[in-house]
Amino acid sequence: MLKQLSFVKVEVVSRYRFDSKVIESETEKYMSKLVTKRYVKLGLVLVFTALIVNACNAPEGNMADGKRWYMMHNCSACHGRQGNDGKGPAIYPLDMGFRRFKSIVRNANSPIMPKFPEEKISDQDVADIYAWLKMK
Ligand code: HEC
Repeated sequence: MLKQLSFVKVEVVSRYRFDSKVIESETEKYMSKLVTKRYVKLGLVLVFTALIVNACNAPEGNMADGKRWYMMHNCSACHGRQGNDGKGPAIYPLDMGFRRFKSIVRNANSPIMPKFPEEKISDQDVADIYAWLKMK
């Protein structure tokens, strides 16, 4: 009777150990899933924030005004009246984001293309030119 009892005890203890290991590994799995989910959520939040910030950085451009500013500031003298018919590189069709476009207009880092600081062309006017080149 005693012998039998101790056998049962051993079995219970070993089963408990086994179970606790299973529980541990399940807990680990669960935790890592939770952490992964959290990172995915955080990632999504970051992506959306970046999209919103980016959208805010690019003011709505007015195409008709853009064409006017483009001629007025003599972009046409180098890039041509259509943006692809001048001595300078073709900028129509335009294959770049607004931020890059603006930074080139502000400072093209070029011996030929002049710099256009905000006093000469406002952010809004740059956005107008961008809209015209992008959508005309
Ligand atoms: C005096 C000539 C000149 C004028 C004026 C000029 N550009 Fe440029 N632009 C250039 C040249 C040359 C380059 C090529 C940069 C280089 O290699 O030096 C260039 C490059 C660019 C680029 C980059 C093209 C690319 O594919 O990388 C953009 C965009 C651009 N110009 C827009 C404008 C806009 C908008 C205006 C008017 C506000 C303007 N440029 C006025 C000569 C000019």
